[in-house]
Parts: sequence; C-alpha cells; structure tokens
Amino acid sequence: MEFTQGSKTVLVGTGTVGSSYAYALLNQGLCDELVLVDLNEKRAKGEVMDLNHGVLYAPSTVKIKLGTYEDCKDAAVVVICAGVAQKPGETRLDLVSKNMKIFKAIVENIMESGFNGIFLVATNPVDILAHATWKFSGLPKERVIGSGTILDSARFRYLLGQEFGVTPTSVHGYIIGEHGDSELAIWSSANISGNPIAQRLTKERRNEIYIHVRDAAYEIIEAKGATYYGIAMGLVRITKAILKNEEVVLPVGTLLDGEYGYDDVFIGVPTVINRKGAVEIIELSLDEEEKERLGNSVESLKKIQGLFW
Ligand code: LAC
Repeated sequence: MEFTQGSKTVLVGTGTVGSSYAYALLNQGLCDELVLVDLNEKRAKGEVMDLNHGVLYAPSTVKIKLGTYEDCKDAAVVVICAGVAQKPGETRLDLVSKNMKIFKAIVENIMESGFNGIFLVATNPVDILAHATWKFSGLPKERVIGSGTILDSARFRYLLGQEFGVTPTSVHGYIIGEHGDSELAIWSSANISGNPIAQRLTKERRNEIYIHVRDAAYEIIEAKGATYYGIAMGLVRITKAILKNEEVVLPVGTLLDGEYGYDDVFIGVPTVINRKGAVEIIELSLDEEEKERLGNSVESLKKIQGLFW
C-alpha cells in the first residue's frame, strides 16, 4: 500500500497546543480514532478522560485513548505538538536546539512503529522541525507538512477583515516564508473578492498591519503565557484537508524543491493539500520587494538549518 488510509490520528504532545487541537478535532468530528501520546502520561490520561466525557455531544463518535508510539503503526496522520514552547521575550528560533533533540527521538520512535502516514508538525521553530522530521523519517516530501503560515495568514485575513468590515473568508491574502520574524505579507495579490487591497491602504498602514500579524504571538504570550487556540484551529484545518481529500490550497509549511527558486527548506507557501498530503506548491507572482524579503526569510531559516545538516 502506498500510504496508510483511514482517519486514525495520533497526537504526540498534549500540552496547551496539543490539547486544544484534540478538542477542536473532536468538535469537528473529523476522525474515528484519536490517540494521545505524551511523556507526561498522567496529564495525557487526564486529557483523554476529559475529552471522552464530551464525546456524547460531539458531531460524531470518536474512540479516544491514551497510547504509545506503537499506536502510530496504522495511523493516517501523526500530529507533533511536543517540545519546549516560547517564553515571554523568546523567539521561535531560540527553541531550536532543545526541540531538535526531542524531535530526533520522537520521529525515530514513530518510524520504528512502522508508521506510513502523514506527519503534521506544529512545534516551533516549525519550519526547521518540519525539515528535520522529513530528514529523520525518510518519508516522501509530500507526507511531511508543517503548520507553516496557516496561522499568520489567518491573522492577516482577520485584521484586513477588521480594516474593511468584511469577514476573513472574503479576504484573500497570504503571509509566506518563515513562521516567525522574517515572514512576509504578499500585498501584491491581497484582495477582497478580487478587488485589490494594497492601493486602498497607505504604506504606513500596510506596515502597521504586517507588524501586528508578525508580532501577534509575542503579544498573546505576554498576556496569557502561550498561544494555542489559533494554531489548533489551523492544524485542524490542515487535518480536514487531508482526511477529506479536499484538494484545497492552504499556506502550510512544505519542502521547496526549486519552487520560488529555492530548495531544501520548509517554508509557508500556498500548497494544494489532499489525502496524499502536500502535493503541489502554488507559486504566487511576487513583486521585487516580496522576492527580496522571501529570500531573506529562506536565508534566515537555512542559517539555522545549516547548524544541524
Ligand atoms: C503562534 C505560535 C503557534 O504564532 O508560533 O501563535
């Protein structure tokens, strides 16, 4: 068999992001089996119990249990949220050494189970760790997906919706690049139902909105200690696109293999997602400034990546 079918999902890491993901997944009724894995078994057991007590009110029944890496053997999707999270004042890239060690152990254990599905990586720095998951696992590139700029683009579309008084689903625009400080807004193609946005905003206002998107996580972490609902919703959106074979374009973290002129780097770019994973990268037409900023973003990721590979 080419890759594992079905909808069994294994979540590795039941901290705030992982447990929020599990809760959102249950409420959207996307999978028939959900297994929670965490070194902190006591906490994972509590999450399993708490989620199971809500199954009655979920749109469809889900078997939820505490498990181990062995449960990845027949999993369709394994979502990795495990690792050290940003503290106030820390950048996502500051986490790389600690989380790289954690990921090596996690991915090697998962592959030893015989896993043959799709990885969805959320732990930061997510672009570096998605690349590491691809290297450690040896899976084809389409079967390793990072959350990429799924959340950044949602923040961008939300803020533009607020600016123009329309719901985010009617605002079309992408943040691409690193999920982090070097990400960039693609103003040249941002639009509201086909009507270009850039010219309706001054350069100063465009920059204000971009900075608000880029720095949102710092603000939330300062306020409540961590971010988890937005990223969890983005991860569930990607999971749905996979399990429902949606053929939808989402700004996920995927491996560039010549697209946009770069290779051997995972960054957030619009990508077609279906049951096979990340199957086609959509190359947006970028203006000169956007091309330069994308290059900077790739360079800052490769500088870190180069410390490990
Ligand atoms: C954030 C985390 C997921 O941007 O990096 O909220």
